[in-house]
Amino acid sequence: MQTILVTGGAGFIGSNFIAYYLAKNNNCTIVNLDKLTYAADIKNLREVDNNASYKFIHGDICDKQLLINIFKEYKFKGIIHFAAESHVDNSIENPSEFINTNIVGTHNLLEVAKLFWIDNPETSNKQNRFLHVSTDEVYGSLKETGFFTENTPYAPNSPYSASKAASDFLVRSYHHTFRLNVVTTNCSNNFGPKQHDEKLIPTVIRKALNNEKIPIYGTGKNVRDWLYVEDHCKAIDLVYQNGKSGETYIIGANNEYTNLKIADMVCEILDANLTKEESYKKQISFVEDRLGHDFRYAIDATKIKNELGWKPMQNFKESLEKTVFWYLNKYRN
Ligand SMILES: NC(=O)c1ccc[n+]([C@@H]2O[C@H](COP(=O)([O-])OP(=O)(O)OC[C@H]3O[C@@H](n4cnc5c(N)ncnc54)[C@H](O)[C@@H]3O)[C@@H](O)[C@H]2O)c1
Repeated sequence: MQTILVTGGAGFIGSNFIAYYLAKNNNCTIVNLDKLTYAADIKNLREVDNNASYKFIHGDICDKQLLINIFKEYKFKGIIHFAAESHVDNSIENPSEFINTNIVGTHNLLEVAKLFWIDNPETSNKQNRFLHVSTDEVYGSLKETGFFTENTPYAPNSPYSASKAASDFLVRSYHHTFRLNVVTTNCSNNFGPKQHDEKLIPTVIRKALNNEKIPIYGTGKNVRDWLYVEDHCKAIDLVYQNGKSGETYIIGANNEYTNLKIADMVCEILDANLTKEESYKKQISFVEDRLGHDFRYAIDATKIKNELGWKPMQNFKESLEKTVFWYLNKYRN
């Protein structure tokens, strides 16, 4: 029986991951450490709340003593680290929390993992693994062509991506210097159930249903590579189980769409399923662009496909439809 620490498991991807992982593995316990910031929703965890293999701890990864206490108590065999401030717009308004959680918090986790897994002869175990979840935004912005690979030089453009880049480098350094068993994943934009209302797809649906303008930044031409969250969870699981220590794997599903196209497709699903005289697309309205808005992200996921046999299993249109229905259910109840 293994006990794994998941950080930030009350957020979007973490909560999907916990449900996925516990459904698949009956030989592990997950301890979810989450500060419950505005971005968390404890209801995201309803389906695992009564699972004897799941435990929730309300706490902050910046609290090093708390980390030491829970490491002592649970003797973790692994960490899957999702906890972060994750919304680029907030990092432009107020970067400080991004520095605290994304950099200082990640450093605390690395320090405590090193303390228990490397330094202390009674608890040391080089098999114990630290998986760091990061973003493709650390690579900066692409023009119309080309793809990010694991070898693309870092060029973060927002305080959010800069803080994630710093955390990636810290993780890398703890492997290189202390031989901590780490793996890092850098994924593209996720979509799916349980995402916070502030993100693009939930915003389009919410505004559409409220008969409000659907805000799209600039001209709506910015391109993202959309990854269904369940495919991402499978990729994280594979990297955690079989990834090479010290390596990075970038994850994307080759679903490149502009923000405007995503809004259009969501409106089309709403049009097809709800009764309204005119199309929801009429509510789309362009607003002043985000400062420093990256133009395009796109991923070449050859490494994770070749080395670990991962590939996205979900059809984009079907998973977008599933996602829209999930939010319809949420916003109309
Ligand atoms: N959502 C995406 O499209 C995407 C894309 C690439 C990478 N990522 C990365 O994936 C990870 C998860 O993203 P998400 O979209 O689920 O984020 P999210 O904002 O939905 O959730 C983050 C969670 O972390 C928790 N948290 C924040 N600060 C904390 C702290 N100091 N201590 C403990 N918990 C804290 C929050 O309460 C929340 O539950 C992040 O590291 C993010 O950078 C996300």
